[in-house]
Amino acid sequence: MEVKIKGNRTLTGEIKISGAKNSALALIPIALLSDGIVTIDNVPNVSDIGVLKEILEFLGCQVSFENNVMVINNENLVNKEIPETLSNKMRASYYFMPVLLSKFNKVEMYFPGGCKIGARPIDQTLKALTILGGNVEEDNNHYKITTKGLTGGHVYLDMPSVGATVNTIIAAVKADGLTILENAAKEPEIVNVATFLNSMGAKITGAGTSEIRIQGVKKLSGCYTEVIPDRIEAGTYAIIGAMVGKNLKISNIIPEHIEALMLKMKEMGIDYKEELDSVTITAPDYKLKPVKIKTLGYPGFATDLQQPVTPLLCKCTGVSKLEETIYENRFNNVPYLNEMGANIQIKGREIKVNGPIEFKGAEVEASDLRAGASLLVAALAAEGETTIKNVNHILRGYDKLVEKLKNVGADIELVD
Ligand code: EPU
Repeated sequence: MEVKIKGNRTLTGEIKISGAKNSALALIPIALLSDGIVTIDNVPNVSDIGVLKEILEFLGCQVSFENNVMVINNENLVNKEIPETLSNKMRASYYFMPVLLSKFNKVEMYFPGGCKIGARPIDQTLKALTILGGNVEEDNNHYKITTKGLTGGHVYLDMPSVGATVNTIIAAVKADGLTILENAAKEPEIVNVATFLNSMGAKITGAGTSEIRIQGVKKLSGCYTEVIPDRIEAGTYAIIGAMVGKNLKISNIIPEHIEALMLKMKEMGIDYKEELDSVTITAPDYKLKPVKIKTLGYPGFATDLQQPVTPLLCKCTGVSKLEETIYENRFNNVPYLNEMGANIQIKGREIKVNGPIEFKGAEVEASDLRAGASLLVAALAAEGETTIKNVNHILRGYDKLVEKLKNVGADIELVD
């Protein structure tokens, strides 16, 4: 599938942000830990969620998903090895590792998939599961983990990994005793996970800080919860607003979650209006100052926004620098942006962006989710028509992408 965009249209009106993909991808597997029915509201209707639903059904769960509400009944959950064809579709499939281990004391799984943006090892998760009493047998990309019963433990993560933090919380929540997790990731998605589990009866403190404590409990009950707004979707549309917006309002957001991005925009000289749960932004008609960006864990500048923000750096007058510290290989958007008229050089984990330039339409390809989003941002600002092939990558993470953009005046069509 591809998307065709006629660029340089002014976008005006309101874009409502959906629930966070990366939160929902954790909450849904976690629902299997509950001893009752779980209702999750504000689940984005993106293709990754569809894959997760397939995995739940494969494991014997009854799942309904309508109007962004997912209801999960895990009464008939069975412990089966998830086929590699499903688990290699996304990174989040490895949340089933601690879930099934906690429920059945045994799990067999393949190495998870996900965007090809670096090696993305899972050593920190395996370390945490071992400390909590798991016995890991590894054979190539296949893992068999067994336990005589998980027990609390003291875990230090070598880096504040989002996935390893979620996996440690999952394994600890019904383990016997207290788990202390140090150097935990502080992303809002972690807070969403802990709040969700606490509403089921878990005892977790410190989520959102680098030390999380989890006192194991015997039982978790059914509950209702909501997914937080998607800060990466919000950030991407805010960037689009800065490129081609006229009073473009990005609503249903938690402004604090995109503060690192918005303050960078302020450094560039861009003006915007922040309200309770929205930000309104207009593309400036004056020179923008170049900036330096370095990606970091939350509350630092999100790695998932570095590719989407790159086209905006191309609009600054002078040399901007962007350093990617989380992934080894997250510049697959750059050659395509250069084809569209950008002047960017890659040097190791840093790019040097020379501006200002005018983007022109071209035929390009989305190599992964956020690289695709980056091309989309450039295409919306480009003179002429751009075709982005492999748009499926973008649809993994942006709910109702075409509809939301059309509603504010974009000329965009999905083509099969
Ligand atoms: N890492 C290890 N060992 C581990 C775990 C991570 O070396 O055991 C490394 C990774 O290789 C990477 C870094 O630590 O270099 C950070 O990885 P992290 O575990 O934090 O990432 P993740 O949990 O795999 C989630 C999001 C990503 C997002 C990162 C931000 C999900 C499903 N994915 O990935 O989202 O970039 O956090 O840290 O929540 C996206 O949405 O486009 C996306 C890639």
